[in-house]
Formats: sequence, structure tokens, C-alpha cells
Amino acid sequence: MEYAVAGVARRHKHWHTRTESAKTKLALTGNECQGGARPGGWQDGRVDLEAFDWLLTDVGQRVLEQARLAVLAGEPELRVNTLLRRTTTAERAAAALTQVALRSAAVTKFGELAHRMYFTPEALEQATRAAVAEHRAARFAAFGARTLIDLGCGIGGDLIAAARSGLVCAGVDLDPVRVAVARANLAALELPGAVQVADATEVDHSGFDLAFADPARRSGTGRSFRVEDWTPPWTWVEGLLRRDACVKVAPGIPHDLVPEGVEAEWVSDHGEVKEAALWSGRTATVARRATLIGEGGLASITDEDDPGRTEVGTGPVDAYLYEPDGAVIRAGLVTAVAAGVHGRLIDPKIAYVTSAEAFQTPFARGYRVLEHLPYREKQLRAALRERGVGTLTIKKRGVDVVPDQLRQRLALRGDTPATLVLTRVAGAGTALLVEPL
Ligand SMILES: C[S@@+](CC[C@H](N)C(=O)[O-])C[C@H]1O[C@@H](n2cnc3c(N)ncnc32)[C@H](O)[C@@H]1O
Repeated sequence: MEYAVAGVARRHKHWHTRTESAKTKLALTGNECQGGARPGGWQDGRVDLEAFDWLLTDVGQRVLEQARLAVLAGEPELRVNTLLRRTTTAERAAAALTQVALRSAAVTKFGELAHRMYFTPEALEQATRAAVAEHRAARFAAFGARTLIDLGCGIGGDLIAAARSGLVCAGVDLDPVRVAVARANLAALELPGAVQVADATEVDHSGFDLAFADPARRSGTGRSFRVEDWTPPWTWVEGLLRRDACVKVAPGIPHDLVPEGVEAEWVSDHGEVKEAALWSGRTATVARRATLIGEGGLASITDEDDPGRTEVGTGPVDAYLYEPDGAVIRAGLVTAVAAGVHGRLIDPKIAYVTSAEAFQTPFARGYRVLEHLPYREKQLRAALRERGVGTLTIKKRGVDVVPDQLRQRLALRGDTPATLVLTRVAGAGTALLVEPL
């Protein structure tokens, strides 16, 4: 078996560590950008601009700390509220409590930094998680940019990462609450930068080395990709992509929507596809890229690693099966992964790779193929029972099976755990008993 070191598979020139990604221009997660600007009545969810401004004063900070300590001590919300109301108004008490709750919710995205930051419920949902934003910021820095404008910065998920990587950053947003929050976040994290209320479509960004945008959208996950929902709109994005820029989009972006000469990068975080980013002008280094952020660091594979379908070929299931990461699949780089494990596809339309060799690769989960089992339910049940299988993990691709329902119908009662792959090989339904490498 060949092993990769810290996320870098051997013998593959474009698989990089995180450190490499920050140094070279070549290398460099539920998707996080829905919802639009909120015209009228500047309140974002439960965050009111007046109360938020007050929260940043010395008195506000003391009340916020009082709320934090009371929540930490396990006091119920009602009691904390009563306590805060002894010294402040209902709106202000609510503002303090809201931030305490949001900080705690934000830890999954921002780690320990969350405890010093400010949020609004909706903007937190839309914010880019730190791991993904830091990767993007490393690319900004590797590109050699010194100044960046974030055109629609929200509470500053991307802005903060860029500022932390040493860029001089400016942010604009239509929403005054978000502008106030982003500004407070830069200050709380002792980062330089300026944020102001402005319409991104009217801002002159020509003086900045790089422009970044993360348009708000009401839909865009999964199969539907409706550019007409975006704000700022897709037509504006297309214009922005004529300069050195990066635009975060939903991972469902169809390949044919990516303008000529623009690089599309799909990013996953611990196996979950989070977004796609379009890199234009001199920031584009390849046509398509999949970047995987995981425990071992960061790995990146591109169309330059891809010998293509004809070269890789299709053939029967061999000793090992590989299930490529979602970012690889979205980027259309399954055949690049096949080449990396000296393998081939099992079917032209299915994203499984097979090989005679065992590899550890960051780009796919590998399995040893133990047995081919009957694809018919009755015979399959008998085969699994014969092997004493109880807990069954079912993986499926390209077949119309609902794993939970099948598992129920199989009604297995043995002691042995097993993994079953249901898929199509050369068009035929196939059941494989496998074990993870
Ligand atoms: C998805 S959020 C950005 C999230 C941000 N990247 C982060 O990580 O926190 C999109 C933002 O664009 C703002 N926006 C939408 N249209 C805009 C426009 N025309 N000008 C400025 N900001 C706009 C919205 O108010 C929203 O805060």
C-alpha cells in the first residue's frame, strides 16, 4: 500500500500541503451563502442597529460580559434577561443575550475567534467558515495582492481572513447593521481595514489589487442554480470577472456558465462540499480545481492532473474501489483521481474508481473489495445473513435504492458490521461487500 503524508499523495505533482498552497500560485463546505440584502427597516434578524452600537460602548461591553457569565453559569434565559433588565432596557438586554447565543453558535465556523466576534443570525448563516476563507485568503496572498475590496462583505467572514493574511482590506455592504458588525469584528480582532455602507455595483474598485464578491442568493444549492436570484446580479459578476477577482458561488454552478479563461474551484471541508469560487484575470491558474480541506491539511487536484476519460478507460471492478470526494466530482475530476490511483472508471456515468492497487489519497475514500454479492434483494439478504452481518452501511451510486428502507427490509440480526456498495457496472446493477482501507 502507498501512503500519503499529511494530505499529500506521493507521485503526484499537483497535490499540495496547506503550507505549499500558501506559497505557490498553483495550489490553493452545506454551502454558505443564501439570503439577500434586507431593504427597509435596518434590522437583521434580532439585531437592531441602535442596540448594537450601544453594545460596543463600555457600558454595553459590561452588560455583554454579565450576560456571558450568567449563561456560562447555566442560568436560564429568562433569569439572565431579568438580571440584565435591572440596569438596561429590554432591547439592550436582548442585544446582549443575542450576541452570547450567536457567539456560541458561531464556534463551529470561526473556532475560538467567535468568542470575540459579533454576528447577526442571518449573516452568520451566510458567512464563509474560517477554514474555507483562510484557504481563499492564502491564495489572495500567494497571488501577491496587497489590497483587496470585498464587495458585499456581510459580517466579514472573508474580510477577516483576508485581513489576517496581511492584506489591506476594504469592505462594503448595503446593510448598515452588517457594516457595523463587520467593522466591530475587525476592531475586536485588532485587524486593520475599513468598512462602509455602499452599493457594490456603484463602487469604483479599480484601485484595488483584487476584488472579491460573495453575492447573496435565495437559492443555489443542489440542482437548481438560479443566477437571477443573486444580488448583486450575475450580469454584474460577469463584468467583475473581467478583472483580477474572485467570486464565491454555489457549488451547483454549471460548468458552461463559467466564463472563458476563468478558473472554477470547488472546495470541500471534511468531506462536505461548501462552495465553488471563480478566479479571474491573473488569479486563474487552471480551468478546474478541487480543493479538499481535511485533518491532514489541504490537498488540491486540477484539470492538469487529468489525463481524461479515454486515457483512464473503463473496466470491471478490481481489488480496490475508490469513492471520490464531492468537490472532485463537482469539478469533473474523477478521472484525475483514477489516474492518481493507477485505476479506471467502473462505468462511464458513475463516480466510482477501481484499481488493482491500494492507495491512501485525500481525494477519495478507498475500500478493499471483499466479494461480489447477488444484486437481487432476496439472495442478497440470504448472503448477508449467511455472513452474520448485523450493522450494515450502505453506499450507493447510480441506482434507485433508499438505503434506510433497504436496511429495514433486509432485517439483519447478526453481529458482524459490514459495508455494502450498490452501483452500476457497465450498466448492470452490482452489489459489492467492501471494507474501508
Ligand atoms: C453572502 S453575504 C456575504 C458573506 C461574507 N462573504 C461572509 O463571509 O461573511 C452577501 C452580502 O452581500 C450584500 N449585498 C447584496 N447586494 C449588495 C449590493 N448590491 N451591494 C453591497 N452589498 C450587497 C448582502 O447584504 C450580504 O451581506
